[in-house]
Amino acid sequence: MTSHDSILTYARSRYLWITLALSLASLVAYNLYDPGGPPNGGTWLGYTLGTIGAALIVWLMLFGMRKRSYRNSPGTLRGWLSAHIYLGTSLILIVLLHCGFQFGWNIHTLAFVLMLVVIFSGFFGVYVYLRYPNLMTRNRESATREAMLEEVAEIDQNALALADGIDPKIHGVVLRSIQNTRLGGGVWTQLRAHDGSDLALDSLHKAMAERENKQDMKTTEMPTMFAMVDYLAGRATDKQGEAMRSLIDLISRKKGLATKVARDIQYQAMMEIWLYVHVPLSFALLAALIAHITSSFFYW
Ligand code: HEM
Ligand code: HEM
Repeated sequence: MTSHDSILTYARSRYLWITLALSLASLVAYNLYDPGGPPNGGTWLGYTLGTIGAALIVWLMLFGMRKRSYRNSPGTLRGWLSAHIYLGTSLILIVLLHCGFQFGWNIHTLAFVLMLVVIFSGFFGVYVYLRYPNLMTRNRESATREAMLEEVAEIDQNALALADGIDPKIHGVVLRSIQNTRLGGGVWTQLRAHDGSDLALDSLHKAMAERENKQDMKTTEMPTMFAMVDYLAGRATDKQGEAMRSLIDLISRKKGLATKVARDIQYQAMMEIWLYVHVPLSFALLAALIAHITSSFFYW
C-alpha cells in the first residue's frame, strides 16, 4: 500500500478487522450468556462490556493528547486515527449490548446519547477529511491562498487607481465593494466568507448601459440610476468608456479570485467546525460516564 493510503484502509484495514473481531466476540458472548433475567448493565457480562466501553472512551479521548505530542510521526498518527475511527464506531454495539438495549430518562441514557452525538460528528469528520482536501486542491488550481490574496490586493489597488481617474462616485463604488469583502476571521466568519465585487459590478454595468443608451438616443431628460451617469454620458470622452470597461474586467477577475479564496476558507472551516462538537461533547460524555458509573454502584 502507498502512503496515499486512506485512513480507512490503513495497514490493510488492520483496525477494521480488530474491530470486527471485538464486535463479533461481544455478540457471541451476549448470545451465549444467560443473565438469569433480562439482559442489563448490572450482570456479569454487562459489567464486562461496560468496562470495555468505558476503557475505549478514555482511550479515544487520549487521541487529542497524542495528536499534539511531538514524539509522533505523521505515520503513527494515521494509525491512531484509523483505530480511533473503527473502535470508536464499535462503541455503539458494545454499549447497546452492555445495557441490554434498555433505556430510560436517566444519566445512563444521557451518556449514551452524548456518545452517539460524538460518534456521528466523527463520521462527519471522516467525510470532510476524505473529501475536502481534494476539493481544496482543485479549487486552488495549484495557487496558494497567500498568492491569491496578494493578487486580490493588487487588483484592488489597480481598480481604485483606475476608478479614481474616471469619476469620484465610481471610486466610491469600488471602495465600498472592497470594504464589503470579508475573507478570513474566526471560524464562524469564515463559513460566511464573501466578496463585495458583485455590487460594484452591478453598478458599473448599469452605468455603462445607461451611458451607451444615452449616447444612442441623445436624450437629455432620461431618468438616471446614478448621478455619475449623467456626468459620464454628458461629458465623458471615449477614453473614460475604455477605462470603465477595463475597470469592469479588473473587478470581474477579482470576483473570480475572491470567490476561490472564499471557498478555500470555507472548506478549511468545514474541516474544523465539526471538532467544535466532537471534542467538547466528548468531555461532556466523560462527565456523564463518571456519573453513570458512580451512580450505578448505589443500586447495590
Ligand atoms: C465501567 C463501566 C460501566 C459500568 C460499571 C456500568 C454499569 C452499569 C450498570 C450497573 C447498569 C445497570 C443500571 C440499571 O439497570 O439501572 C448500566 C446500565 C446502562 N449503562 Fe452502563 N456501565 C458502564 C459503562 C457504560 C458506558 C460506557 C455507557 C455508554 C456511554 C453506558 C451506558 C449505559 C446505559 C444506557 C444503561 C441503561 C440504563 C437504563 O436501563 O435505563 N454504560 N451500566
Ligand atoms: C465516543 C467516542 C469518541 C470519542 C470520545 C472521541 C474523541 C476524540 C478526541 C478527544 C479527539 C481529538 C481531537 C482534537 O484534540 O483535536 C478526536 C479526534 C477525531 N475523532 Fe473522535 N472520538 C470518538 C469517536 C469517533 C468516531 C466514531 C469517529 C469517526 C467515525 C471519530 C473521528 C475523529 C477524527 C477524524 C478525529 C481527528 C481530528 C483531527 O485529527 O483533527 N471519532 N476524537
